[in-house]
Amino acid sequence: MFKKLNPAKSYRLLESGPIVLVTTRAGGKNNVMTLGFHMMMQHEPALVGCIIGPWDYSYQALRETGECVIALPTVDLAQQVVDIGNCSGEEVDKFRRFGLTARSGESVEAPLIRECVANLECRVVDDAMVDRYNMFILQVENVWVDRARREQRLLHHRGDGVFIVDGETIDLGERMVRWRYLMDD
Ligand SMILES: Cc1cc2nc3c(=O)[nH]c(=O)nc-3n(C[C@H](O)[C@H](O)[C@H](O)COP(=O)(O)O)c2cc1C
Repeated sequence: MFKKLNPAKSYRLLESGPIVLVTTRAGGKNNVMTLGFHMMMQHEPALVGCIIGPWDYSYQALRETGECVIALPTVDLAQQVVDIGNCSGEEVDKFRRFGLTARSGESVEAPLIRECVANLECRVVDDAMVDRYNMFILQVENVWVDRARREQRLLHHRGDGVFIVDGETIDLGERMVRWRYLMDD
């Protein structure tokens, strides 16, 4: 079950650089791609930079609609994650092929992915760097997290199809003396 998280806490999901899926919806058609090149840019409002190139079918959908969802897959979806990034929505209905369930969000038309542990509804707020770097700057409008999901381990792409799986966590929060205000809730 998805529960809402304050979008200002998006960095807790993305700062570790997990591989993500990006969904779009254009012309009544859902699509999804795999994306490793992203970065948190601002806490509040939460801004994320994503590199999505014109070689991706998703590029045109994002340009047209200005909307997408960043979905976080866990290790059990690893093979689908790679395969989703190795075929085009121009030829394949990827939701059907990879057994993904589209769920409606609240503020964008692009679908949430039921099978993912978190979904961030995003809107393009700055396209000034798209022509130069294929970089879309997205604002996160809603965040949905499935804390009840059994598998929570995210994947981190080292490149060339090799991934690191979330492992040990060390919590040094007590040393974050300068940033306490971020940690309050
Ligand atoms: C592990 C992995 C990471 C990827 N990262 C990116 C990325 O950061 N940016 C990008 O434009 N494409 C990236 N791709 C490639 C797209 O996912 C791929 O071109 C996909 O087929 C696009 O789907 P679409 O044509 O349906 O939009 C990645 C692929 C894989 C497998």
